[in-house]
Amino acid sequence: MPTAITFKNFYKSHVLEKLFIHTERLIIRNLKPADVEDFHIYRSNPDVTKYQGFNVMDIEQCAAFIEKQKDKVFGTAGEWVQYAIENKVTKRLIGDCAIKLDILNIQIAETGITISHLEQGKGFAKEAMLAVMAFLFETKNVRRIAEITDAENVAAINLLKSMGFRQEGHFIENIFFKGKWGSEFLFAMLQREWNGKK
Ligand SMILES: CC(C)(COP(=O)(O)OP(=O)(O)OC[C@H]1O[C@@H](n2cnc3c(N)ncnc32)[C@H](O)[C@@H]1OP(=O)(O)O)[C@@H](O)C(=O)NCCC(=O)NCCS
Repeated sequence: MPTAITFKNFYKSHVLEKLFIHTERLIIRNLKPADVEDFHIYRSNPDVTKYQGFNVMDIEQCAAFIEKQKDKVFGTAGEWVQYAIENKVTKRLIGDCAIKLDILNIQIAETGITISHLEQGKGFAKEAMLAVMAFLFETKNVRRIAEITDAENVAAINLLKSMGFRQEGHFIENIFFKGKWGSEFLFAMLQREWNGKK
């Protein structure tokens, strides 16, 4: 059966490796212990974590989080990996982005991104995400990338729309979140849609 052979070969050629992506202004790489102060600056800010699945962190929690993430490789099915976004000029951490490959099919990915409140509005999220999407669709042959966002998170919604994501779903009060019921949007893009935009 040709489909099964292709699928098997795809898995065979899928090598686990540390992710390293360059853009014009940014490097996307594994988090490292030296990132902890910059990481703490925005992960301790309630405005930054408002719509996210985690709460503010103290410096010890940040250090422990980085320790767990620092050696992770790209490509493990079902596992979220959080990557550093570094400014090439200042060499400081300006945010982080996360990628998870679906546990049942690694040609399906989910992503997320956070940019420090000190660095927002400079096009960094879009630059980082477009590079991550190019890596997933063009290098890793991912077929679909999805992202879920709080229905009130205007910045994230505009970011996703500006990159060409399609809104597929609106879940009404589907999540009990930070003390109240919240609604979420599901956005997605297919590999063929990405190719069509080039
Ligand atoms: C969402 C987030 C990552 C955007 O980061 P950013 O670096 O400021 O975004 P960019 O500067 O790359 O902007 C990308 C697009 O989104 C739009 N946008 C970004 N922030 C916006 C805001 N607060 N209000 C309206 N539009 C906004 C920009 O206008 C831009 O659109 P354009 O390309 O059409 O001009 C950032 O606000 C953030 O980290 N928020 C907190 C964490 C979070 O909620 N993450 C999303 C989880 S799903």
